[in-house]
Amino acid sequence: MLVLGIETSCDETAAAVVADGRKVLSSIVYSQIALHRPYGGVVPEIASRKHVEVILKVVNKALKEAGIGLKDIDVIAVTQGPGLVGALLVGICVAKAMSFALKKPLVAVNHLEAHLMAVFLEKRAPAFPFIGMVVSGGHTNLYLAKDFLDITQLGQTLDDAAGEAFDKVAKMLGLPYPGGISIEKAAQSGNPSAIAFPRPMLDRKDYNVSFSGLKTAVANFLRQHPQANKADIAASFQEAVVDTLVSKCMQAVKDFRLSRLVVAGGVAANKRLREKLLAKAKKEGIEVFFPPPHLCTDNAAMIAGLGYHYFKANKLASYDFDAISRYPVCLSL
Ligand code: KG4
Ligand code: ZN
Repeated sequence: MLVLGIETSCDETAAAVVADGRKVLSSIVYSQIALHRPYGGVVPEIASRKHVEVILKVVNKALKEAGIGLKDIDVIAVTQGPGLVGALLVGICVAKAMSFALKKPLVAVNHLEAHLMAVFLEKRAPAFPFIGMVVSGGHTNLYLAKDFLDITQLGQTLDDAAGEAFDKVAKMLGLPYPGGISIEKAAQSGNPSAIAFPRPMLDRKDYNVSFSGLKTAVANFLRQHPQANKADIAASFQEAVVDTLVSKCMQAVKDFRLSRLVVAGGVAANKRLREKLLAKAKKEGIEVFFPPPHLCTDNAAMIAGLGYHYFKANKLASYDFDAISRYPVCLSL
């Protein structure tokens, strides 16, 4: 079964063809990063306009690379949210129009849950149940996943998401957007123990995190030590974020007596996070799974991948569904 995935929730215009929810036949990602870089972050109106401009080219390229035509598509899967409403609507309108014209079923996919399930596009995939953490630009969420469609949110960020904190601290250090990669690069020549930045929320029993205090600590440090070594600041900040994330997901894995952990989303591409998680998990006898780095950042293969399971479960979308900028959170604890 061939699923065409469409993703336009933020600043990547993406389309992909995935077979049977597992095999990526094509995954095209048109990144708008260069367009937003002068502003130090994503400008929603610019993102929407660019999506309109390139979406059909991106979809056509995905079909061509997969070696299929429009008539070969079995299901169309599109990101419903969360994300920028104007940006989401571009993908949703294209998906609805294609579904209507081609008479093919449509599914409306949750972007965060798709990030998590991108791990099934790898050969080595986990069995259910597992603890999942999605660390992206807008979210830091912990989940208990019992099946593709049985996902409970356990915790979230109370303020800044991990990726957002990377982006803001990079800006303070004068490093280019997006901040995650810039900080990771700068940190390579820095000392992660040079500055003892706080590890927020580690004393709490819940699964929420918060990074705005850490961000303020970096701002204060910079004000007091304007000549400090930037690589040391980047490395020490990255270490504080990584320690917090590692500790929170290990806490959840232990509390639920599970032995599998999945970490996904843009920040999961971070090498230091992968390194420390793997080391800690090995010690505790826990298996850790990450999607490959190119499927950690925004892409449409993950939308097509999870979309396949929506279709199998008959979770179809009607033509009047809307974009969702934020999903209401009902934490189970
Ligand atoms: O998942 P994603 O591509 O988009 C959202 O859904 O938000 O995540 C983007 C975020 C950005 O904040 C970016 O700085 C961060 O992921 N990021 C990283 C790395 N690569 C991307 N953060 C830390 N280390 C990285 N290597
Ligand atoms: Zn994302």
